Amino acid sequence: MSTASRLPQFVGRLASKLPVTVDSTVRRLAVLSLIGQTVLVVTGGAVRLTASGLGCPTWPRCTNESLVNTPEMGIHGFIEFGNRLLTFALAAVAALMLVYLWNLRKERKDLFLLALGLLASIPAQAIIGGITVLTQLNPWVVGLHFLVSMALVVFATLLVNRAYGRTGRFRTHSLAALPGTLRPVMTAVALFSAVAVMLGVVVTG
Ligand code: HEM
Repeated sequence: MSTASRLPQFVGRLASKLPVTVDSTVRRLAVLSLIGQTVLVVTGGAVRLTASGLGCPTWPRCTNESLVNTPEMGIHGFIEFGNRLLTFALAAVAALMLVYLWNLRKERKDLFLLALGLLASIPAQAIIGGITVLTQLNPWVVGLHFLVSMALVVFATLLVNRAYGRTGRFRTHSLAALPGTLRPVMTAVALFSAVAVMLGVVVTG
């Protein structure tokens, strides 16, 4: 039997093992995705604060001669390359999440699209990170890299909340008891926070 004809069989067998409801694995993967995005913000910040941004002076290779950092490049090369490697861990979690949601792709389109968006954004962030290096840490590019990361944290938070039924069409907790003014106040808080983050990025360069 050819590889092409075995593929549908493999997909069918895999799908039969995947969940048909939002189970604890889906929830755990959503939480792991949020943790991963947050960790990348912290390690990205560490790259910046330790002035390791050009620890690997080029991209996608670490140097023109080497794909990875070498001991001679010291701690900065180690920090920068370590940060690049974490991208793969994040991509693995995002891909696993999407596979786990396969049987729920129609019923829980919200979760599937959020997971797809998170997965698609990872190569985008890797390219922006690469441009950051190739432009010698141009502040506008670093700022964009940071803001995209903030948006990803927001989307990963939405994924967690929706997986736990705290928001969206499938919510399990009633919000009816909340005062009617709370929603516009919270929307205003979210908008002002986003503006504050953007202004912070611009003024600190
Ligand atoms: C999904 C993957 C990634 C995420 C979420 C992410 C996120 C971040 C964040 C939040 C920062 C801190 C920026 C700041 O404090 O202003 C940062 C810094 C940085 N990132 Fe990434 N990053 C990712 C992948 C990459 C990759 C693949 C590269 C490859 C070169 C890269 C290169 C950098 C560099 C060089 C800095 C330091 C910039 C500086 O020193 O000013 N990032 N990253």
